[in-house]
Amino acid sequence: MRHLLKLQDLTREDILSILNLADQLKFERLNGVQKDYLKGKKMGLIFQKASTRTRVSFEVGIYELGGYGLFLSSSDLQIGRGEPVQDTARVLSRYLDGIMIRTFAQQEVEDLAKYGSIPVINGLTDYAHPCQVLADLMTIREYKGSFKGLKMAFIGDGNNMANSLAVGAVKTGMSFAIACPEGYEPDAQIMKWAEENGEFTITHSVKEAIADADVVYTDVWASMGQESERQKRIAAFAGYQVNAENMKYAKPDAMVMHCLPAHRGEEITDDVFEAHAKEIFDEAENRLHAQKAVMVKLLK
Ligand code: CP
Ligand code: NVA
Repeated sequence: MRHLLKLQDLTREDILSILNLADQLKFERLNGVQKDYLKGKKMGLIFQKASTRTRVSFEVGIYELGGYGLFLSSSDLQIGRGEPVQDTARVLSRYLDGIMIRTFAQQEVEDLAKYGSIPVINGLTDYAHPCQVLADLMTIREYKGSFKGLKMAFIGDGNNMANSLAVGAVKTGMSFAIACPEGYEPDAQIMKWAEENGEFTITHSVKEAIADADVVYTDVWASMGQESERQKRIAAFAGYQVNAENMKYAKPDAMVMHCLPAHRGEEITDDVFEAHAKEIFDEAENRLHAQKAVMVKLLK
């Protein structure tokens, strides 16, 4: 494993090995043990979109590993003025030991890895959010003990989260069902792969997707970069909400997860969110541990 560009590139063993290390790092942190696994290593953190969790967890994470993180906003970098990613990749490879990038096109992340000579981590594109899903898998395992026999239901937009969760679920042996409106399906190739390699269902019925689910996941209706489609999407996604009525069809002990930020009253009601706040904020915390594990695997 040289990069983390998308979960498809990881084997089941890669994923489990990251999760095991993440558990160990979480345990060490809880017990006040700090080891400089990445002493002196420098991570560039490029952001072309807003972020709370990804930025803070990467900055804190590399610091706790004994390294140093440079926050690089695209509005300050030459990349924001059109310097090609191929050149940026080769320049940054001369200074840094690793790069995390949050951007729009997946191709940009792939190109950064192709032209650079240091590990690249995808911190979210329009296509994928692998760091989030590693933290999600870590959280599911914490709560449920293992992935065996679990069903994950995703309610809402077939976006970057849905794409990565479908891959993560299939790779860890969970079944995955998505309920979305017509025209908002996940990536076609991912759906084909998931159908061929695991248990994958797509439906327009929330009730059908959520039935007997162990994990119910949702995300915003309009992702970053889709702000102008907000009104159209609010209309299209009416009914695709995680609420108390729909939760009746899930298993009684089902977890509710959200990558955050959440729009209460849209994809999730306030009462369901607050009833599952423990899981949701454990999930957010686990971004730190999972990403520390990824950085150690890639940079050490
Ligand atoms: N879930 C997530 O990636 O959050 P941020 O956009 O705040 O980084
Ligand atoms: N789908 C959301 C996820 C945010 C973490 C977005 O891309 O904005």
